[in-house]
Amino acid sequence: MKKLFPFMKKYTKYAILCPILMILEVVADIIIPYLMSLIVDVGIAGRDINYVVKVGIVMILAALFGMVMGIMSSHYGAKAGYGFAAEIRKATFKKVQSFSYANLDKFSVSSLITRLTNDCNTLGQVAMMSLRMAVRAPFMMIFALIMALRINASLAGVFMVSIPVMAVFLVIIMTKARPLFIKMQSRVDRVNAIIQENLTGIRVVKSFNRQSHEEQRFKERNDSLRDTALYAISKVIMVGPLMNIVTYSTIIAVLWFGGKQVVVGSMGSGELISFVTYITQILMSLMMLSMFFMQLLRGMASASRINEVLETDSEIKEDSSPVMNMADGSIKFDNVSFAYPLSSEEALKNISLEIKSGETVGVIGSTGSSKSTLVQLIPRLYDVTAGAVEVGGVDVKKYHIKTLRDKVAFVLQKNVLFSGTIRENMKWGNENATDEQIINALRLSQAWEFVSGYEDGLDHIVVQGGDNFSGGQKQRLAIARALLKSPEVIVLDDSTSAVDMGTDAKIQKAFKEELGSVTTIIIAQRISSIQHADKILVMNEGEIESTGTHETLMESSPIYKEIYESQQKGVVGQ
Ligand SMILES: Nc1ncnc2c1ncn2[C@@H]1O[C@H](COP(=O)(O)OP(=O)(O)OP(=O)(O)O)[C@@H](O)[C@H]1O
Ligand SMILES: [Mg+2]
Repeated sequence: MKKLFPFMKKYTKYAILCPILMILEVVADIIIPYLMSLIVDVGIAGRDINYVVKVGIVMILAALFGMVMGIMSSHYGAKAGYGFAAEIRKATFKKVQSFSYANLDKFSVSSLITRLTNDCNTLGQVAMMSLRMAVRAPFMMIFALIMALRINASLAGVFMVSIPVMAVFLVIIMTKARPLFIKMQSRVDRVNAIIQENLTGIRVVKSFNRQSHEEQRFKERNDSLRDTALYAISKVIMVGPLMNIVTYSTIIAVLWFGGKQVVVGSMGSGELISFVTYITQILMSLMMLSMFFMQLLRGMASASRINEVLETDSEIKEDSSPVMNMADGSIKFDNVSFAYPLSSEEALKNISLEIKSGETVGVIGSTGSSKSTLVQLIPRLYDVTAGAVEVGGVDVKKYHIKTLRDKVAFVLQKNVLFSGTIRENMKWGNENATDEQIINALRLSQAWEFVSGYEDGLDHIVVQGGDNFSGGQKQRLAIARALLKSPEVIVLDDSTSAVDMGTDAKIQKAFKEELGSVTTIIIAQRISSIQHADKILVMNEGEIESTGTHETLMESSPIYKEIYESQQKGVVGQ
């Protein structure tokens, strides 16, 4: 938790003011019973109405003072707590943004969401409580103890018994409840995980008619959370009644022994009343302290989960003096091997290849043959395990990452649009793009034909994930977005798979005519998408099986020939 303290820095002022004001409130709370004893023992006993009024006014003022201090302390505490949480959330979010694909393979999305929401909130609440309760309780206890001792030290024997009894009860309950609360946190995670997974895939769930199965899965986890929570609470519930028993027994004992002293005249009745109040305050503080420790445990669990994210460094490290310019779009793989972080098998084995700037390269191969894996190494979405990838004659590891990713535009196989308008989505490619440039890119990707049909054109709304577009429309928008980067290299990973063959041909033609100087890598399932490429790579089980043009591969590559023939059959059969 200590590691998170720096996030409080911006709110130091509030973090200092809150406990100070809290101590002032405690002072008021402590003075009031004392004033009350004066009213009873001096004012009423002496039948001095003036004295009663005077001290009464002071008492009201003390109460008002306490109230104002309390409100202000809460206010500053909330500011510090929520501010603290916001700072942590900001830093965690920033960290996640910096994560490489490899990092993301290790943390699941749902666990990151829980960390960014629940855990950050918990930390804020715990910080707020620490500033208030962790200050209030001990001060209250000490002040009340001093006052009680001052009033009557001989009665102190009573709470010398009750305080340890209470403390032992609390320690026993808390030690029992602690593992349960930790367990509860992990149950909350499990419920969150299923909600997250289910909602992102809700359409698939529906199409597979898996609702009832998913409901069952959810029910199991939800029930287990409920049961754990109930069990944990059932332990903590004991605190209330036990506290009452101890408090009331103490009060009875005080009244018994103190009453005798009042009868004898060695103690004022007002003193006895305030003594009882102080005893209650002490025991309350003890309970508050135990509750606080409980929260602290929750906070510590959250803190370690946040720290885990904050301490993870992106696996993609930038060179200390990075190259800020890319000379051209030539690409070279020099004996590259690659294995995914959590996998022991190599997804790419000894790949060497050279692509000249401006060339159009097709990549084809069966599913799972590592086509996507190969191209992901170019913009450094992953780092190679062995060998090197060069773009424009420079190792990709030497580039400023922004330069590299701006110059190598990538249309992912699983592309995503973001909620907003079409224009906003296009500006992801280039913040400063004019409408003219956007329309030009849309024309090239053959998306303008449907976008121009919208009454609101570029202002047309894109819902989350781009679900209000067809698969082929989404792909064409994603291509346009990549084109707006004015890249040196553009990679289309199966980006026209949902586009009909006619439109696909138009896209190829537009690319050839308008983007002659841009190196284009097209991964495709259909031979027709890459047939006219300058060079075609045939991938098989993580290796390049052969390289050539359509004509030479028909002669030299049995795999290519087989793919071609199977697709021809399809055409003939139609
Ligand atoms: N993030 C990942 N973590 C671990 N293994 C992965 C990951 N992504 C892909 N793989 C594995 O790497 C291999 C190659 O996958 P890749 O996605 O490159 O295939 P592909 O040729 O693009 O297939 P497709 O034509 O279906 O898109 C597969 O065996 C796959 O299981
Ligand atoms: Mg792929």
